[in-house]
Amino acid sequence: MYRSHTCGELRITDVKKEVALSGWVQTIRKFGSITFVDIRDRYGITQLLFSESLNELLEANPLGREFVLQVKGIVNERSNKNANIPTGDIEIIISAFTILNKSAVPPFTIQDDTDGGDELRMKYRFLDLRRNSVKKNLELRYAVGRSTRNYLHENNFMDIETPFLIKSTPEGARDFVVPSRMNPGQFYALPQSPQTFKQLLMVSGYDRYYQIVKCFRDEDLRADRQPEFTQIDCEMSFVEQEDILNMFEGLVKRIFKDVKNIDYTDVVERMTWEDAMWKFGNDKPDIRFDLSIANLKFPQHSFVNKKSALHGSAFEEQGVGGDLLAFPVFDEAETVLAIAIPGCSEYTRKQTDELTEWVKRPQIGMKGLVFIKYNTDGTYKSSVDKFYSPEKLKAIADAAKANKGDLVLIVAGAEEKTRKATSDLRMYLGERLGLRKADHFKLLWVLDFPLFEYAEEENRWVARHHPFTSPKPDHIDIMINNNPVIENAAEYLAHPYAGIKANAYDMVLNGNEIGGGSIRIFQRNLQEKMFAALGMDAEEQQHKFGFLLGAFEYGAPPHGGLAFGFDRLCALLGGSESIRDFIAFPKNNSGRDVMLDAPSSIDAKQFDELQIKLNLK
Ligand code: AMO
Repeated sequence: MYRSHTCGELRITDVKKEVALSGWVQTIRKFGSITFVDIRDRYGITQLLFSESLNELLEANPLGREFVLQVKGIVNERSNKNANIPTGDIEIIISAFTILNKSAVPPFTIQDDTDGGDELRMKYRFLDLRRNSVKKNLELRYAVGRSTRNYLHENNFMDIETPFLIKSTPEGARDFVVPSRMNPGQFYALPQSPQTFKQLLMVSGYDRYYQIVKCFRDEDLRADRQPEFTQIDCEMSFVEQEDILNMFEGLVKRIFKDVKNIDYTDVVERMTWEDAMWKFGNDKPDIRFDLSIANLKFPQHSFVNKKSALHGSAFEEQGVGGDLLAFPVFDEAETVLAIAIPGCSEYTRKQTDELTEWVKRPQIGMKGLVFIKYNTDGTYKSSVDKFYSPEKLKAIADAAKANKGDLVLIVAGAEEKTRKATSDLRMYLGERLGLRKADHFKLLWVLDFPLFEYAEEENRWVARHHPFTSPKPDHIDIMINNNPVIENAAEYLAHPYAGIKANAYDMVLNGNEIGGGSIRIFQRNLQEKMFAALGMDAEEQQHKFGFLLGAFEYGAPPHGGLAFGFDRLCALLGGSESIRDFIAFPKNNSGRDVMLDAPSSIDAKQFDELQIKLNLK
């Protein structure tokens, strides 16, 4: 018997028991003739006491860090208790020990605050995983998975596996491909998601499907993206958007309860995509704090008809008259956006300069920042005082919904860049003002996304979500009755397709997209129309998606679903935006597994078998 108990189990009530423990040597401390050793396993740490009588044996068989040790002994009450660990009241007085295996000196200390850098920890990930902080993350991940399975099982969902060696599923990234030896010159694609399979399962009548499943996407990596990641992938038949939103709000609330013991009783807010873009500058706003963005130049325009709305200004809206004129930076800019920051009107020159420098950093790329201080005494002070009368400063501050004591920051430039910069500035300020607390969770549904996005280089439409997403019911006719071809690239926003909204939704948690989905197209003719809109002719449609179009002819039910980013959800619940810490064996930012040293070259024989010749450029 290697052990009678784990290293995290023994308490004061176990004193005098004879026990056996097995684990890894964490620390060794020698005090004269006695030696204390901390032994660790997955469950905790226990102190071992080797008395003088074992000295000779210890000297003949010296212990080292991370040796695998088995001990026998008696549980004893400690004189020097350690309140920081659950086993801190006891120690084991050792009667016998066996070194089960030795260890080389580990390349970094196996403790919460390790001295190992990222790359080193990843190279020796099997050692890194021994650290308590990493273990806690994996335990949280396991708890999220368990909670998910329980909830979905209770709601009649069935876990069904789908294949990995498939044909391309377009989710907007590049495919990872796998050559087929038995079919020379042909390749499988790894699924970017099980999207088409879950839809086929709906046609088969499995009306509630789920899978916690690996997805593979060859895309640029960031803290919240991995080339292989995990989704909680779900699909339901005979549902409308509302049914899906309710079901999956329920899932996330259940996870909050089971994993964090949080009763999320707030109504999950909903926001249209257009509102999210204008008020927060992006489609996954962090709504734990307000700091909403005011659009000073074209207050009412919607994205799709903005070209026809190039008039109007904050002044007109406030009834002051005139344009944002006399200040060329604003006049010439496509977009002028403002944020009012509560209680910051007393920022010093140094502080406002700092903010200006922040927006000028290459990652943000703006030329500068204009500010207006709406002082507590009701006066206005601005970096552009010489261009504006106090009434006009007031009009801008009012348009930005500033209160006394607020600092209004204004950013101007090309629309997309300015919106992104203002959104980033908003997040930065939220962070700076302590408004983004990791233990405060706020969910949001973003709805009514555009169905299409314009791909400038190719002058054609691409699906914003994926090509299986249905248009809003009252927009179907627009799609059916109009030709998707964009005759005039400069006027693409005037094309009827630009205004078509999708039956799609994203779930956002604290400014992160944790899930997304849609109500699907389930009629062959509409699906064909969609593929055609994306530039696929009938032959290509048949080649790529003949199986799905065919299936839609055999009684496809109305259906819809969504997928959560499992790694992202775990990371956020664990208080981090980096998903790597929540994956047992992650890849680095270049998509490498530095432990395995993968990807790597393969043998000439493998190339031969596959009948593939490299032609590296
Ligand atoms: P989507 O592409 O929005 O939808 O993906 C769903 C969720 O998966 C997470 N995610 C990622 N997580 C880590 N690394 C990545 N590279 C990565 N890419 C996406 C995000 C995202 O919200 N088939 C559809 C779902 C559906 O329509 O039902 C899909 O895959 O959290």
